Amino acid sequence: MVDVRDGHLCVAGCRVVDIVDAHGEPAYIYDAETIDRQYAQLRTALPDDVQIFYSVKANPNPGILSHMVGLADGAEVSSGGELRKALEAGFAPQDIIFVGPGKSEAEILAAVREGIYAIVAESVPEIRLIDDVAADVGRCAHVALRINPTRPMSGARLAMAGKPSQFGIDEADIGSAFEEASSCQHVEIMGIHAYLGTRILDAEVVARNTRYIAEMALRASQEYGFELAMVDFGGGFGVPYFENEEEFDIDALQRELAGLPDECLGDAAHRARLMVESGRYLVADCGIYVARVRYVKQSQGKSFVILSGGTNHHMAAAAIGGFVRRNFPVAVVNRMDEPNTLTADLCGPLCTPTDVLARKVDIPTVEPGDLVAVLKSGAYGFSASPLGFLSHEQPREVLVKNGEAQPA
Ligand SMILES: Cc1ncc(COP(=O)(O)O)c(C=O)c1O
Repeated sequence: MVDVRDGHLCVAGCRVVDIVDAHGEPAYIYDAETIDRQYAQLRTALPDDVQIFYSVKANPNPGILSHMVGLADGAEVSSGGELRKALEAGFAPQDIIFVGPGKSEAEILAAVREGIYAIVAESVPEIRLIDDVAADVGRCAHVALRINPTRPMSGARLAMAGKPSQFGIDEADIGSAFEEASSCQHVEIMGIHAYLGTRILDAEVVARNTRYIAEMALRASQEYGFELAMVDFGGGFGVPYFENEEEFDIDALQRELAGLPDECLGDAAHRARLMVESGRYLVADCGIYVARVRYVKQSQGKSFVILSGGTNHHMAAAAIGGFVRRNFPVAVVNRMDEPNTLTADLCGPLCTPTDVLARKVDIPTVEPGDLVAVLKSGAYGFSASPLGFLSHEQPREVLVKNGEAQPA
């Protein structure tokens, strides 16, 4: 848990200043207990027979992945690199699915050789390539089809389906996909996958999407005569980042989803492996990003706090990559009991005016040497940032687990 003790921001009871003294900064600091809490909440919300796959893209840190092995039912990977990391962390091939619109031949080969649970094909030509690769190694690849629904799906702050898209196979083209697959000797279509968008905060929207996907999957299996072994309902469960957003209502989600797989899939609900894939909900709250104040300056009546790291380490906080320009919650780690007396832009060290982690934010008066934290930074932080930009050092990553902070 991230909380305040004696004027200090703490992660799982450890003062952030002490963690930084021991491990350095700029740093991402993660808390394993918060991951446990988020996982438990999502588990409570979902019907028992719906498995939770961790979306590695949200945070592929090895410490977090190893921790996830003990929690999640499987891993959803989107590159050969993520596949390797998931396997190294200890996920069994039978608990891994591989999603992504641009898989290379080498990535498909790795997936086939490892014998992962499902390769999720995102286009008709990809089915043909999977068949060729599987034929070369004399195997049969288990393939799920990612479907882009015809109907516009609302409710995601970043919608990724229900419109023309590079992701998935259009619902109207499911027939062509099965036609292609029927001529393939080394591909077995065994499931349906859909992922409609991210940062959904409304239980009703998740239920509506889940129902749509379940019904679409059942229709496809009946129409094209294949045994539905897997249905992936996607997910996109969000966390509130900004003032007008509220925590996901877990009780409401539990109510909305109770009985839904049975109702929509009938007997198939018991024969198929049902799953959601979740990244942000599981790890966003577990992490903070910490950087040191280097300079405090004024320019034409405005205050600027220049930090040791910025957009290069935390692109999402700088509102790049699908976020509107609103401030993530920030804190001055070592002045938590002081009043806000300064309104400033918190900037990084880059030579671009977009390098602003928080704009016009109210904070205590800071001095060089103080530490500033961006909260809710465990998802799409380190891994989704332009770390090479300006060739600054990469941030450290530290995981606090069982009361101890360790490099991760
Ligand atoms: C196909 C797919 N699955 C899973 C995820 C993870 O989503 P989230 O972090 O919102 O749970 C994403 C995110 O973009 C995605 O594209």
